[in-house]
Amino acid sequence: MSCNPALTLARTARWTYSDAMTAHDFNIPADRLPELLCAMPKAELHMHIEGSLEPELIFALAQRNGVTLPYASVEELRQAYAFTNLQSFLDIYYAGASVLLEEQDFYDMAWAYLERAAADNVLRTEMFFDPQTHTARGVDVKVVIDGLHRACVDAEAKLGVSAALILCFLRHLSEEEAFETLAQALPYRDKFIGVGLDSSEVGHPPEKFAKVFARCRELGLRLVAHAGEEGPPAYVWSALDVLKVERVDHGVQSAKDPALMARLAKDRIPLTVCPLSNLKLCVFPDLKEHNLKTLLDAGLAATVNSDDPAYFGGYMNENFLQTFAATGLTAKHAWQLAANSFEGSFIDDAAKAGYIERLDETFARFAA
Ligand code: ADE
Ligand code: ZN
Repeated sequence: MSCNPALTLARTARWTYSDAMTAHDFNIPADRLPELLCAMPKAELHMHIEGSLEPELIFALAQRNGVTLPYASVEELRQAYAFTNLQSFLDIYYAGASVLLEEQDFYDMAWAYLERAAADNVLRTEMFFDPQTHTARGVDVKVVIDGLHRACVDAEAKLGVSAALILCFLRHLSEEEAFETLAQALPYRDKFIGVGLDSSEVGHPPEKFAKVFARCRELGLRLVAHAGEEGPPAYVWSALDVLKVERVDHGVQSAKDPALMARLAKDRIPLTVCPLSNLKLCVFPDLKEHNLKTLLDAGLAATVNSDDPAYFGGYMNENFLQTFAATGLTAKHAWQLAANSFEGSFIDDAAKAGYIERLDETFARFAA
């Protein structure tokens, strides 16, 4: 049990902070907030493993596999990371993934991320991967899944990080191609827990993938989709009502639609928000303008995530630190974000309660 009565009280209502806690804000001294953000246990629910490929690893894998890159050096590649919108990023992101050919490459990429996640006190991570980015280059889906899954197994044993995989369909491709990808992946069904939808959003609404998501649902796969990153609130509605997703990735455009905000709050649909991604892809002009606080204060189950950390300037803790510094979020928001991340994850209720207990213990240690 938690040794902090205020925190125990909080759990009476679905792991949301109570008015009593709001009043004294956990007694966490403001100057200890950055340290607390780093130390608190958390789950990461929105990261693309191909987006964790650091330039140094891209060059090392290119050399190992004899792939020629259109950049002369790590520095030159890094300089190309000046994005104006989602598409300008995706063009470079897909080019970076071209160095991945062998099972060991996928393992090395995932392992590098998992070590980084462990250092940020991420105890649970649900990692996206894009099989079509690799099968289009002749890499077998088995090579992709086996390499990533082996790293997940090792993460549990060697790092104490629980890691799972979510297969994403590329929405700029057809639904027929998504069905083909699903068929190729199904022999390895035990190695991924769900499916998602990513890539270029505008012009590719969720309903384009209604049939393949319905099939995945029949198969018992967990369902998520990117919606409302750059696209309108209508895409979030159709992700919920047509695809029947359990979480919405990004979803920040939902704030433009009060009825949608009410629905997301009522159903406690997790939104996997990625502040540094939103900043780098110009979804918000400045981190100060980010609407994370609005989402949280409206009762939405928002979380903080890194999306593509190698490209957007930070892993989990960097997202927390920069966002809190820019927007004036407080300790109660920190607790809520971490609790939301466990609540929104695809682990069982006993595991959720165990992680939230550890969260409470960390907050109790920091209380004045
Ligand atoms: N693939 C990798 N990162 C993405 C993002 N932020 N949005 C859509 N697709 C992606
Ligand atoms: Zn994403």
